[in-house]
Amino acid sequence: MAQGLIDGYQRQVDYLRLSVTDRCNLRCTYCMPAGGFRYLPHEAILRYEELLRLVRITTGLGIHKVRVTGGEPFVRKGIVSFLERLCAVSGVDDVSVTTNGVLLQSMAKDLWHAGIRRINVSLDTLQPRKYAAITGLDAFDAVWRGLSAALDHGFSPVKINVVAMKGINDDEIETMAQLTLAYPFHVRFIELMPFQPDAYEERYLASDLVVEKIEALGPLIPCPSGNGNGPARYYQFPGAPGKIGLISPMSHHFCPTCNRLRITAEGSLRTCLFADRDVDLRHPLRHGASDADIARLICEAIETKPEKHRLNEGSVPHRKCLSRPMTSIGG
Ligand code: 5AD
Ligand code: SF4
Repeated sequence: MAQGLIDGYQRQVDYLRLSVTDRCNLRCTYCMPAGGFRYLPHEAILRYEELLRLVRITTGLGIHKVRVTGGEPFVRKGIVSFLERLCAVSGVDDVSVTTNGVLLQSMAKDLWHAGIRRINVSLDTLQPRKYAAITGLDAFDAVWRGLSAALDHGFSPVKINVVAMKGINDDEIETMAQLTLAYPFHVRFIELMPFQPDAYEERYLASDLVVEKIEALGPLIPCPSGNGNGPARYYQFPGAPGKIGLISPMSHHFCPTCNRLRITAEGSLRTCLFADRDVDLRHPLRHGASDADIARLICEAIETKPEKHRLNEGSVPHRKCLSRPMTSIGG
């Protein structure tokens, strides 16, 4: 299919986010439900063979970029050899991984050998105690060593995802932005999304306010958008090796250019992070469906990809909470 996958709003879908596990070694407050989270039973999770089959089918449909997510992908056994096989799938041009970085230091070398060149690491603070309070694990130093190892091995770009939260890390926006003066990181500030209702409205910090804080430090140069920047807007301090990104799912709709498809660890297809409807691919995968049958299911789902999310709509903006925790959808 030369034209690839086009949805009902003329968006070309060419990017797959593939969750390999719903498990995580952290408990980030904005991701995990306070009352705990029941992991999927082992047999519900797609086997690596099944994931690779889905990737082969989606590359046949025109999807050439894959991002591996979780939960935390590195807690799944055998992940490095899976990534190596994924990088080798014909038609897959680009494989990247989103991780919390806790296990990155010891894996960086093997990831590089597996063919991974780009990595996203979640890190919301540079203060070890605050890190432990946000994530439930005293692992700041481990993540920092992981980030250094990623730079040392030549990963590029190494992106740092910071969920900006009022009263939690809004006092560190400037310091985190200034990391880009010393390192080639892309430091990306993400607006808090309402996965957990607790204190959402008090915590939400709009990207425009984040930019204002950073601009107070000195002039920012906007970077040209396009070529795989995804939904981020980028800026740079003059002469800085790194970049500053803003991801604004709440305040600036990026839905009109959304090019992505998600497959959850249990094999549900989601055409939108915020959709309340999944298409089950696991049952057909395990019950004799042909590749063509599965491709048809994917194409049908893409035709109904929602135009946009509606989290800001209704009388009480931002209140609506998402149907599932982030860790079960895979970012
Ligand atoms: N709002 C914004 N970003 C979130 N993430 C997880 N939960 C939320 C939320 N409620 C981010 C993580 C990670 C990525 C996978 O998703 O910080 O960078
Ligand atoms: Fe784990 Fe990521 Fe959720 Fe934090 S945000 S608990 S690192 S899946």
